[in-house]
Amino acid sequence: MIGIFDSGVGGMTVAHAVEQALPGYDLVYFGDLARAPYGSKSPETIRRYACQNIDFLLAKGARLIIIACNSAASVSGEEMLARYQPPIFDVINPAVARVASLVRQSGGRLRVGIIGTRATVRSGVYAQKIAAAAPDCQVLSQECPLLVPLVEEGWLDKRETKMILRRYLHPLRARQVESLVLACTHYPLLKGLIVPRIGRRVTIIDSSVEVSSHLAWYLKSHPELDASLARGGVSRFYVSDVTEAAQAIADKIFGRRIELIPA
Ligand code: DGL
Repeated sequence: MIGIFDSGVGGMTVAHAVEQALPGYDLVYFGDLARAPYGSKSPETIRRYACQNIDFLLAKGARLIIIACNSAASVSGEEMLARYQPPIFDVINPAVARVASLVRQSGGRLRVGIIGTRATVRSGVYAQKIAAAAPDCQVLSQECPLLVPLVEEGWLDKRETKMILRRYLHPLRARQVESLVLACTHYPLLKGLIVPRIGRRVTIIDSSVEVSSHLAWYLKSHPELDASLARGGVSRFYVSDVTEAAQAIADKIFGRRIELIPA
């Protein structure tokens, strides 16, 4: 099984992208709704939660793990990679690889905006990794702490959400970024509002899409791991708290009724 975790339901954008990139592969998801949001917690606490979530998914039969939470990946990704034997993927490295390829295509210079939670932006991990992969790239980061609560509340098309987005995106738009990384798994749900506010010519990099295509590529080059993954078309979604808002978002992401199993 492919194991995926996030602090809440935002990581379901990753689970959905994985279902599309690898149809029929069994998935087990854990959304830590009871302890969300992670983005405003300390790195130590987020690391502890990440270990507990990975242990939970491995106990459910996961053979590989996707950390579908930028906040968790930014403070614990490298440590989890070293700590666990099963392969661990995160949402950051594939997005950085995509930025690097855009930089190459553009001839070496690109202004890239990063939007994420406070934990993700303050970790500086995107800026560091992009600087290492594409030194000429100019990175502008913006923390957007209000967006996750708005998404979790289901305020996907409210006037207030549009106003807040305009305010967060303004500094990036003013500096004329050419690409924008959605460095939070909740943000793909706001893509329709983000695109007109950042500018339609800006290339949007969605970490859920990048990690799922990276995983599909990785499995092709690791046939033993690929063969060990069950393919019964079963996806299970565990959550540490069941709420009406989470149910509505889960159903919206998948376009079908999702059974949230209390963990
Ligand atoms: N989904 C998480 C992320 O990708 C954000 C939610 C949270 O802060 O818990 O960063």
